[in-house]
Amino acid sequence: MANPEPTFAVTRLFSRKNALNESRLEAASEPASAAPGEVLLRLDRFALTTNNITYAAFGEAMQYWEFFPTGQPEWGHMPVWGFADVVASAVDGIAPGERFYGYFPIASHIRMQPERITARGFYDATAHRATLTSAYNQYTRVQNDAAYAPELEHYQMLYRPLFITSFMLADFLQDNQFFGAQRLVVSSASSKTAYGTAFCLREFDGITLAGLTSARNRAFVEGLGCYDDTVTYDELESMATDVPTLYVDFSGDESLRARVHAHFGDSLVYDCFAGSAQNTGFLRDLRLPGPKPEFYFAPVQIRKRNADWGPQEVNRRFNAAQRRFIDHARDPGNGWLALVEEQGFEAAQARIARLAAGSGAPQEGYVVVVG
Ligand SMILES: NC(=O)c1ccc[n+]([C@@H]2O[C@H](COP(=O)([O-])OP(=O)(O)OC[C@H]3O[C@@H](n4cnc5c(N)ncnc54)[C@H](OP(=O)(O)O)[C@@H]3O)[C@@H](O)[C@H]2O)c1
Repeated sequence: MANPEPTFAVTRLFSRKNALNESRLEAASEPASAAPGEVLLRLDRFALTTNNITYAAFGEAMQYWEFFPTGQPEWGHMPVWGFADVVASAVDGIAPGERFYGYFPIASHIRMQPERITARGFYDATAHRATLTSAYNQYTRVQNDAAYAPELEHYQMLYRPLFITSFMLADFLQDNQFFGAQRLVVSSASSKTAYGTAFCLREFDGITLAGLTSARNRAFVEGLGCYDDTVTYDELESMATDVPTLYVDFSGDESLRARVHAHFGDSLVYDCFAGSAQNTGFLRDLRLPGPKPEFYFAPVQIRKRNADWGPQEVNRRFNAAQRRFIDHARDPGNGWLALVEEQGFEAAQARIARLAAGSGAPQEGYVVVVG
């Protein structure tokens, strides 16, 4: 009798689409080999921040659920950034044992169909991903990534997906002369994406930065040292209104947006909707006075700068800025970040539930080790 084909156990973490604090693990047995044109990757580690909750919250509006379909309408596969190793390959140019950085479902294993394979990496050409934003379909071979250092893996997976937004948002704002503003007011100022943006904007003269945050995170925001002023949400109405002001919103809080428009009135020159840390809804038209909120999506500015500067120069500038940022963030003397390393999918379930409830601490950076 022929030997049965070897199999392995795959575990997947599914999130309930309409209650993101709820998740369940599903186990299945699958062939251990890769079909022609396919690679089989084992997810080794990934990071969790509020941004992952936002991917899920915007799962329908921004098609994030479609990257890794579950086949079960009520359950979605929350995307995360991390590192995975090739365990089987039927693709020329990708070998078992190679390690890749990219955008993965929370699962022990995933199959992909690489195309555009280069020394840098590949794009997953699995049919259902063809119409989705290509930046998320790209996987980077760590051994050829100029920004990669093994000892920085946890910082990379935690910060890189956020810092690309911070860097490109800072660039977008200065590329547009801050829309005439002299002051930026940034909500959810304690979030990693917000303070990454503030870090990049330190280099620009002529603007001041005010960080808006909750009372419990005020001391953390003050301690960051990258905002000129720290203002709690309750204190918003005490801010001066005679300065041209640009609102950068990472909170998505609709009542805060309404207060910002009412308080700053004609001084509000631009409203940039960049995130939704406190709200699981997408941007809605609230018919507010003043400028219409504009959704900011990093891949749009990346495309513009790829055309202006060429992709190599974009990468060079981004890598240099990211290294400065990570070195600053990981210096314990600065008090910005304490890595919290957790093991396995049950820990991930508990962490997701806590992040969905908004009970993360801003100085903590959560990484989950699967392998
Ligand atoms: N547009 C883009 O391309 C893009 C890319 C990356 C990230 N983002 C967005 O940026 C935002 C921040 O993400 P992150 O990963 O940097 O966050 P993070 O570091 O995990 O941020 C934590 C902070 O967010 C606020 N927060 C989070 N959940 C909350 C809740 N349920 N209730 C109240 N406050 C809550 C709190 O800040 P305060 O106390 O200071 O309010 C908290 O300290 C997310 O909305 C994310 O989607 C957007």
